[in-house]
Amino acid sequence: MKNIVILISGRGSNMEAVVRAAQAEQWPARVAAVISNKADAKGLVFAAEHGIPTAVVSNKDYPDRASFDAALAEVIDQFAPDLVVLAGFMRILTPAFTERYAGRMLNIHPSLLPLFPGLHTHEQALAAGVAEHGATVHFVTAELDHGPIVGQARIPVLPGDDADQLAARLLVEEHKLYPRCIRLFVEDKLVIDNGAVRILN
Ligand code: GRF
Repeated sequence: MKNIVILISGRGSNMEAVVRAAQAEQWPARVAAVISNKADAKGLVFAAEHGIPTAVVSNKDYPDRASFDAALAEVIDQFAPDLVVLAGFMRILTPAFTERYAGRMLNIHPSLLPLFPGLHTHEQALAAGVAEHGATVHFVTAELDHGPIVGQARIPVLPGDDADQLAARLLVEEHKLYPRCIRLFVEDKLVIDNGAVRILN
């Protein structure tokens, strides 16, 4: 049984999708803990209701990124993670942290990377006038919203779409994409080869 530790900052709908898929599809893995940097993150309620251990490590309690990341890693490691999953975790991570979990930390970003890294991706997509938008699951490296790509989901940009409509339609796809990619990891089907992901049969 592999241990998955999920980091959130808010709503936690992707975390919820992963928890539900792990149970419904009987993955050889369990969500061992959900950790938030915000005490009022809504997702903590869902996790607690599902019997998943939760923890809060508030970045406000630490003077700098390095000390926060070290404290966070200490809590994460108590759950012996095989995989760390960032699910709407709104913190920029230090290289020491990304190095510690290299090859075993995934993120979901709401754009078709390498397009539109950073914040406000739906607004960026609309401003660029792209015909397609999407989400990307990738291994986390020191560079923000980069790293070997595991999978992407695409949606059309429709006439009259605003950022909220795009985000809502994309979220439905994120909830399928992220569990699909995490399942590949827990089934040992992902290999990072020369900076790219190879998926084994
Ligand atoms: C998602 O759109 C995800 O792609 C991005 O932040 C949002 C988190 O939503 N990284 P939720 O907390 O999973 O509901």
